[in-house]
Amino acid sequence: MNILVTGGAGYIGSHVLKALLKEGHQVITLDNLQKGYKEAVTGGKFIEGDLADKKLLNKIMKEDEIEGVIHLAADSLVGESMEKPGKYYMNNFANGINLLEAMINNDVKNIVFSSTAAVYGEPDEIPIKENNKTEPTSTYGESKLFFEKALKRYDDTYGLKYASLRYFNAAGADPEGEIGEAHDPETHLIPIVLQTALGIRDKIYIFGDDYPTNDGSCIRDYIHVNDLAAAHLLALEALAEGKESSIYNLGSGEGYSVKEVIDTVKEVTGRDFEVEISERRAGDPAVLIASSDKIQKELDWQPKYTELEKIISTAWQWHKSGGFERRTNDE
Ligand code: UFG
Repeated sequence: MNILVTGGAGYIGSHVLKALLKEGHQVITLDNLQKGYKEAVTGGKFIEGDLADKKLLNKIMKEDEIEGVIHLAADSLVGESMEKPGKYYMNNFANGINLLEAMINNDVKNIVFSSTAAVYGEPDEIPIKENNKTEPTSTYGESKLFFEKALKRYDDTYGLKYASLRYFNAAGADPEGEIGEAHDPETHLIPIVLQTALGIRDKIYIFGDDYPTNDGSCIRDYIHVNDLAAAHLLALEALAEGKESSIYNLGSGEGYSVKEVIDTVKEVTGRDFEVEISERRAGDPAVLIASSDKIQKELDWQPKYTELEKIISTAWQWHKSGGFERRTNDE
């Protein structure tokens, strides 16, 4: 298939791209490189551009004879979204509509969308199912939920078929070592703890140890980025074969606390470092664990990396090699 991947130079996008290339698809990556890395685009055709550029989107659909779209391009910092809501509504919602319009104009009818657990807000029950209430507590989550609603309207109106994938906590790196997680600024727990293990940071701060969990720190559901990538392929193939639109959670179904993540990093890396308890971070729910039964049943998706230790090991390989910057060669 000729597939357009938006945001293909980002952390998750680059792993999706690599999985598509391995399956022999023709891939066109569109990325504005605001957060992505050119080095993360390991094959196919690369176009530097933005979803605000309607002409460019129409041109790509037509000239590259796009048959399916995987849409990951977005701003994704929860904290920033509370300070700059307009940026999130504009980039994640309004510019996303440009993409849908270009698809409809060019008769492209299948899209896999990168959504998020943040659409749920504070969950009523754990594990979270796709039909649980969606009351996002951040503009980021809301901008993704609005786009999901638009997808439903485009399906009703034009017969656009979509799979919306609600990611829980993406983690780890491709074991081949070519690509990995490199955010700037980095806000995610696992890369921050690994940077502390490497001595790039002095210590790791635990954001709150008074949550109603076993050890008081927040619990999250970490899913390996290659397992996530595999789900995109299955979802797109299913749509191409005529499957109806759907929404799927993507997690491993296991929850780990912040303290467990830190202890596992110490074990995997064999390094000790300072840990300090600090204030809660605004907007963090205590526990987020997905039920991924639906995608397992409907698309036969099976995660390969179910243990935290394995997920962290792949991320550690990447970080200690220095990532894209090859910052250090300390081992
Ligand atoms: N944490 C720390 N110290 C740090 C960094 C994080 O204690 O230095 C804690 C957080 O408070 C949280 C947990 O580690 O309890 C995980 O935090 P992350 O920032 O790694 O991930 P989040 O669960 O906040 O966010 C993820 C995605 C978001 C998405 C959200 C859905 O990264 O894009 O899940 O709720 F919106």
